[in-house]
Amino acid sequence: MLNEITRGLQQPQKQLPSKLFYDEQGSNRFEEISALEEYYLTRTEIAILREHLCEIAARIGPQRLLIEFGSGSSKKTRLLLDALEDVAGYVPIDISRELLLHATAELEAAYPRLPIIPVHADYTIPFTLPPIACQATHKVAFFPGSTVGNFYPPEVIAFLRRVADLVGAGGGLLIGVDLKKNPALLHRAYNDAAGVTAQFNLNLLARLNREFGADFPLDQFAHHAFYNETEGRIEMHLIAQDDLSVRLDGCQITIRRGESILTEVSYEYALDEFAALAAQAQFEVDAVWTDAQQFFSVQYLVAR
Ligand code: AVI
Repeated sequence: MLNEITRGLQQPQKQLPSKLFYDEQGSNRFEEISALEEYYLTRTEIAILREHLCEIAARIGPQRLLIEFGSGSSKKTRLLLDALEDVAGYVPIDISRELLLHATAELEAAYPRLPIIPVHADYTIPFTLPPIACQATHKVAFFPGSTVGNFYPPEVIAFLRRVADLVGAGGGLLIGVDLKKNPALLHRAYNDAAGVTAQFNLNLLARLNREFGADFPLDQFAHHAFYNETEGRIEMHLIAQDDLSVRLDGCQITIRRGESILTEVSYEYALDEFAALAAQAQFEVDAVWTDAQQFFSVQYLVAR
């Protein structure tokens, strides 16, 4: 992690890996963002899931091993667990250990007969699942929230390939994908009035200070999020308000006034753009559900 961080800060466009957001505090902040009026993604995805739950469950089929990437609080998963027939087991995978253990304990209480195998891992890099003994006919992955939008397109293909390998031919992936829309709505979603997204963004530097002995002066950075029309993505940056020299892992990093650190990209896709990426990873789009305004999509992909 430290290598990735220092390498990113030495690039001409300084950058930090967005997975760094999700320590306990960052994960809690993200839960707050999910409830914001401006942040349409979470509630729209949940509404799509609720509205089409029977059809989604029928597409997925019975006796599946459900594997969730970035399970967080596992709130959306409950909808699936209630609707799917005879779930063989549930494997939540998350980078935040505390959140994973907390969510697992809550799920175990709510679904006492369901085998739950939590996996603490960074799923953005290859990892192996522990052996899982269960009666599943197929594996189905769940990757909601448009977290796939936080990957660059080549990373999307590499990630989807790993998921296709994991679920095997005939296995599936239920995935949430944010859709292209009026940039003004995107701008609102990533620049909320209460400043929660700004705090979420700044927590990344606070975490470097807490865990990696850095000394970023938090009050010298400003949150900046905008829609990059050419790339079709929201970019989140932290902009230095003064010339700064910051210590990190025995190095001094110079940051000029006005210079930015790119902390996250969130891509929005047209349906055909996403289908083309999926096809490069041996996935075929089997079904797509959207809200009436076509803000967001839930898609079921089947591995060839
Ligand atoms: C987790 N991910 C899909 C969120 C997003 O919208 O890109 C993280 C987030 N960043 C700012 N607000 C929320």
